[in-house]
Amino acid sequence: MTEQPLKNKKIIISAGASGIGLATSKICLSKGAIIYLCDINEKFLNKLKKHPLFKKRLFVYECDASNEYEVINFYDQIKKKTKKIDALINNVGIAGPTKTMEKIDSEEWESTLKTNVTSHFYFTKLAIPMLKKNKRGSIINLSSGAGIMGFPLRSPYAASKWAIIGMTKTLAMELGKFKIRVNAICPGTIKGDRMVRVIRDKAKFLNISKKKIEKEFVSMASMNSWIYEEDIGKTCSFLISNDAERISGQTIAVDGNATRLD
Ligand SMILES: NC(=O)c1ccc[n+]([C@@H]2O[C@H](COP(=O)([O-])OP(=O)(O)OC[C@H]3O[C@@H](n4cnc5c(N)ncnc54)[C@H](O)[C@@H]3O)[C@@H](O)[C@H]2O)c1
Repeated sequence: MTEQPLKNKKIIISAGASGIGLATSKICLSKGAIIYLCDINEKFLNKLKKHPLFKKRLFVYECDASNEYEVINFYDQIKKKTKKIDALINNVGIAGPTKTMEKIDSEEWESTLKTNVTSHFYFTKLAIPMLKKNKRGSIINLSSGAGIMGFPLRSPYAASKWAIIGMTKTLAMELGKFKIRVNAICPGTIKGDRMVRVIRDKAKFLNISKKKIEKEFVSMASMNSWIYEEDIGKTCSFLISNDAERISGQTIAVDGNATRLD
């Protein structure tokens, strides 16, 4: 049997029905956790309702993370099942537009900031009392390599991901005395649907081949490798486990050393 370092640990995760969030949920489930996840995509959520642990250790809800009313409703549903949680993974984040700043309209700017930063505020504000009741816990915020470096053509995304680092460091200072640890993970270029879209948009904007853009992204890492969704899931699982009990306020890049470009 797999080791169960997260046995019965209760974890809330935003945007968990596909991509990094789904891989992370599956890894945490395999280590014994109980997962409460939300997502905006009904099709992805319905697929998860066929998971063998659905309604046993996996609870799924439809919720737009950028809508405060829906987030409050999501937490109300969870509170019918538990008053305490061990961890929150603020995973939601959209890519935003791929354009130079003068071509970005204010709606694109604001929706990127709203989903990538304000959503984390909604989730964190409601999670803190549940973590305090637990008398310890872990908050993990998904930032990005774009939260450490500049990221041409993605200014609202980069701005949002730098904001996440500021939020992480501040919260770690505010919550340390409650034994609540707060860390940020900065994934590199993840092999998955999101990067297919990002590469397509960048190739279109610059009018060069997708192959060239893909090579450029992968070679940003000194390990010259894609990063996999499971790499982020394993890091989350470690940060939630007791093995990480004195790690807080950190920005952890999981990117094959792409941030060397900083
Ligand atoms: N994929 C990458 O290369 C990469 C790199 C660095 C950082 N990240 C960050 O990691 C996190 C997860 O990325 P991903 O690639 O898995 O994302 P993704 O684009 O694959 O989307 C994952 C899920 O988010 C859901 N979602 C989108 N908007 C939502 C909303 N408003 N409310 C609820 N759910 C919503 C989607 O339905 C989807 O199921 C994000 O914060 C992202 O910025 C990703």
